[in-house]
Amino acid sequence: MDLGLNGKVALVTASSHGLGKATALALAKEGATVVICSRQKNEIERTAKEIHKKTGSTVLALAADVSKLPDIRKIVAVAKRKFGTIHILVNNAGGPPTGSILSLPEDEWKKGIDLTLMSVVRLCREVLPLMIGQHWGRVITITSITAKQPINDLLISSTLRPGILGLSKVLSNLYAQYNITVNTICPGNTLTKRQEELMKSRSAQKKMTMKEYMTETVKDIPAGRMGRPEEIGDVIAFLASEKASYINGVNLLVDGGLARGIH
Ligand SMILES: NC(=O)c1ccc[n+]([C@@H]2O[C@H](COP(=O)([O-])OP(=O)(O)OC[C@H]3O[C@@H](n4cnc5c(N)ncnc54)[C@H](OP(=O)(O)O)[C@@H]3O)[C@@H](O)[C@H]2O)c1
Repeated sequence: MDLGLNGKVALVTASSHGLGKATALALAKEGATVVICSRQKNEIERTAKEIHKKTGSTVLALAADVSKLPDIRKIVAVAKRKFGTIHILVNNAGGPPTGSILSLPEDEWKKGIDLTLMSVVRLCREVLPLMIGQHWGRVITITSITAKQPINDLLISSTLRPGILGLSKVLSNLYAQYNITVNTICPGNTLTKRQEELMKSRSAQKKMTMKEYMTETVKDIPAGRMGRPEEIGDVIAFLASEKASYINGVNLLVDGGLARGIH
């Protein structure tokens, strides 16, 4: 299927590794020009080279911290200057701090809010005017299964992600008239560095080896395995395409069936 992404410009944030990288790769494979960013300059430049080598698409790497407004303004301005506009915005960030209500200090909450919630607000605020002007746009935010099914040790995530679903739904209502769709993806356990770190600390708490913990975790997933980053990237590439033009305001679980409710 031709997704019709040739000639489109995509900004995928937090994308030197994991889900962001898999998304940038999936979009580049479909012919999109991709702007990627993360905090560590050498890592994001290495990823840009790798994606360009695999796909032949133009990939621009920028060092930026999406929890900071000046950095967000910078990446959007550079993308606009180099490529004229942004058609596809994939909002992604690193995972927020973990911990419980009694252990998490005030400044960790503030960090989490800037990283997980305000990054999405700010990126949308900077990019939506371009999409409105060109009468076409796709906004896709990578959230988490916690947006639909809270997880006890991911308190900040479980608190803020549902807010992103609310934000996206409002934007999807308001901007559909400009041919802009706004959707979110809610990944379950997907094999990335972040997932590995979570599994390390959870297995240590349960006095299990990583292998034992993984076997236990997978028992709860109807698919019988963890997800692969490209299984998130490919879904996002589809949602970004012309083929998905009538999918708007959706919060899509990509979790192998892990969330138990009717969502
Ligand atoms: N993997 C899962 O199972 C899963 C499930 C549900 C939700 N999620 C969520 O999906 C998102 C991505 O997770 P992941 O598993 O792909 O994580 P990951 O493998 O740890 O990759 C995180 C990426 O984000 C970049 N990053 C982190 N903080 C950043 C910041 N402040 N500004 C810019 N870039 C930043 C990192 O590079 P630098 O460190 O160089 O900045 C890296 O490229 C997270 O919010 C996570 O909570 C993941």
